Amino acid sequence: MKVLVVGGGGREHVLAWKLLQSNQVEQVFCTPGNGGTAVLEKCQNKAIAVDDFPSILELVNSESIDLVVIGPELPLSLGLTDYLQPHNIKVFGPNQAGATIESSKSWAKDIMVKAGVPTAKSGTFTDASAAKEYIKAEGAPIVVKADGLAAGKGVVVAMTEVEALAAIDELFAQNFNKVVVEEFLTGQEVSILALTDGLTIRPLISAQDHKQVGEGDTGANTGGMGAYAPTPLVDSSLAFRITSEVLEPTLKQLQEQGIDYRGVLYAGLMIAPDGEPKVLEFNCRFGDPETQAVLPLLQTPLVDILSACAEQTLAELPPFQWYEGIAVCVVMAAGGYPASYEKGKVISGIADAQTENAIVFHAGTTLKNDEILTDGGRVLGITCIGKDISNAIATTYNAVDKINFEDAYYRRDIGHRIL
Ligand code: AMP
Ligand code: GLY
Repeated sequence: MKVLVVGGGGREHVLAWKLLQSNQVEQVFCTPGNGGTAVLEKCQNKAIAVDDFPSILELVNSESIDLVVIGPELPLSLGLTDYLQPHNIKVFGPNQAGATIESSKSWAKDIMVKAGVPTAKSGTFTDASAAKEYIKAEGAPIVVKADGLAAGKGVVVAMTEVEALAAIDELFAQNFNKVVVEEFLTGQEVSILALTDGLTIRPLISAQDHKQVGEGDTGANTGGMGAYAPTPLVDSSLAFRITSEVLEPTLKQLQEQGIDYRGVLYAGLMIAPDGEPKVLEFNCRFGDPETQAVLPLLQTPLVDILSACAEQTLAELPPFQWYEGIAVCVVMAAGGYPASYEKGKVISGIADAQTENAIVFHAGTTLKNDEILTDGGRVLGITCIGKDISNAIATTYNAVDKINFEDAYYRRDIGHRIL
């Protein structure tokens, strides 16, 4: 089989790497890929932007690609699946209607309410003064969310009413014309990535991300600074509840609305101190960096699962098999991220790190004149599998410490919440 992976982040590197572990997959293409997919055996980058649909179609036809796996939310929300499917191309990734579950917080809330899925109480507003009235009535802390893709910058967790009111002004000034104002929830955040063919839905092992840039979960929100999987915060009875109370009702609601959803349904959940799960958000794609922790533990060939989702035969697959242990992924970022940062720094030590039972996944990197250079905010994700969390953390940081680039930054406390 030939597979195209659309995207060029850490998630796409791990997808390409995992797909190539199956004998069935003879070649993977990445559009546009990164420095890691450029040097991955049997993988070839093509400099095509994720929103250049005609060039993607041309590549699929000229290379006789059997399966297209769409990584990021942008091409999904722009309708790449809808664009390719009429050409009889097998696509993993929801269509534009399905991707609305990530691109519109209010639409997602509506699905949750109709499906009876546990989530924070909220109101949706197209008018700043009505949103402010609601905030004044509810009081702080409270959460304000822009209704639209905002690259992780559309959510303000306001500890005071003043902050919440300011967030409303800011979001409306930024051309968002709808906001969701939501009850503040406390507890532990976990990520459940579930795979669906539109008929059946099955969760992968649970993961926990570390969204904030600073150690001890402080500072600005980022795309994610590290993750581990599985998390003991989700035991088998909670996993069962999440499937029956969140994933299945959401899929059923999507079906009722006539949406043929084939891809990842990613539930970002808050687990309250009393153990009750509530949905914070849904995403329409694999989480990054959660995927870099989850997929290395997957034993079932990934290509079988993604093909089954695209072909609506997921129910026929035996239960997913997993390797023992726990995987930790630490993200190395460019100094300054998530605000401004520099690119083009030479990265050294990757080969050394890779010998330490570690997998170095590239995110914002590029291959230039045989050197790997930084090319984004999140640069690398280093994953190791250990027999327990302490062992996995020690091995991962041992590998991380072998890698260098100017102004490299990473958190030293990935996994701290369960230690
Ligand atoms: P979202 O994009 O909706 O997941 O929000 C981004 C981050 O904001 C989440 O990962 C949480 O850390 C935080 N957050 C979102 N909603 C809430 C909420 N209702 N209560 C507390 N924190 C929240
Ligand atoms: N790591 C969070 C996300 O992928 O949205």
